[in-house]
Amino acid sequence: MKSKTLKIFAALLVFGMLLSAWVQADEPPKMPYVFGMYCFMCHKEKVQIGPIGIFDMKTKEGNYLHPEYIRNNTRFGYNAMPAFRLSEVSEKEMDDIVTYLKDLAAYRKTHSDYQPMAEFEGEAND
Ligand code: HEC
Repeated sequence: MKSKTLKIFAALLVFGMLLSAWVQADEPPKMPYVFGMYCFMCHKEKVQIGPIGIFDMKTKEGNYLHPEYIRNNTRFGYNAMPAFRLSEVSEKEMDDIVTYLKDLAAYRKTHSDYQPMAEFEGEAND
């Protein structure tokens, strides 16, 4: 009797875990604070000072956006894209940005009309 209850409990637990994993998998990735603060104001649909292909891990030429390229661009800048120092974007925050852009691209493969949203934003608002 006791072991049966345990089995039911275990089955429910596994089911619950699977369910929450499935629900989570369908959630859009959460934009890191630093991205909303420093990047989104330019890399944003409608504003689009910077290319928004980065949301699909693509360069403006349509090539695969390599994570190292994101890091280099962010650290050293590129044309109108400003450079961000370690005091502005830390290594950990840089990792978060790269992870976010990868997750976002994966998410947008199955949710092509999803537009990223920021909880916090820097200067430019619409
Ligand atoms: C002042 C506006 C501005 C801000 C702020 C900005 N960018 Fe950019 N970004 C640009 C512009 C403009 C380009 C295109 C440069 C070019 O190709 O001439 C660009 C290019 C890029 C590229 C390369 C895309 C490609 O197609 O080659 C990446 C990656 C990128 N930005 C990431 C970021 C990240 C991450 C942040 C925040 C840390 C950020 N940007 C903040 C304007 C901005």
